[in-house]
Amino acid sequence: MRPLRIALTKGRLEKQTVELFEKMGLDCTELLNKGRRLILKVGDYEAVLAKAADVITYVEHGVCDIGVVGKDTIVENGKSFYEMTDLNLGKCDFAIAAKKGTDFFDGYNIKRVATKYPNVTKAYFESRGMDVKIIKIEGSVELAPLLDLADGIVDIVETGRTLKENGLEVVEKIMPVSARVIVNMASMKLRRDEIDEFLERIEKVKPQG
Ligand code: PRP
Repeated sequence: MRPLRIALTKGRLEKQTVELFEKMGLDCTELLNKGRRLILKVGDYEAVLAKAADVITYVEHGVCDIGVVGKDTIVENGKSFYEMTDLNLGKCDFAIAAKKGTDFFDGYNIKRVATKYPNVTKAYFESRGMDVKIIKIEGSVELAPLLDLADGIVDIVETGRTLKENGLEVVEKIMPVSARVIVNMASMKLRRDEIDEFLERIEKVKPQG
């Protein structure tokens, strides 16, 4: 049988995830010296580095048993997997932001909202009974209000630096976000003992609260 395969989110969460794996006592030499390689040995496990949404795809299809991915990507894309634990890493907030000094909610015109998270944005404004026009952007969403493509954005805010350096500010926080461990549904049945062992190990070393 192949080793348990774990999909890791590259970028924002990568460093903190590797640090956590080191605390678990896993040999992270390959992860730390990965070059351009995408499948890496981590202790007895196999790790795959992928974009957040792809982590979910690999876990849902069962080609990876476990995934480490942000709650933001889970609420935007997630469906069929088990969400097992909050790693308390990569903490940030989903928020609405707009140009400093403007009143996003002012007036009766339909607001244009740019975001990488159209589903989250749609659900949020629907819950407020507000009709908005959603514009999907793939990255650096902060550009949209600066270029007057949008009245505001829905995005994750961590330190708030990107907003600040671009003359934007948080209008309203929507929900807190952090990294989660997800597990493929079939793997949970077929490889329960190995998965439980992984979860116990990670639980012992993860930051509390
Ligand atoms: C995220 C997010 C903001 C920024 C927030 O982008 O979309 O742009 O980080 O972080 P801050 O509050 O600490 O400044 P990311 O770095 O993931 O890249 P992207 O914009 O290309 O998606």
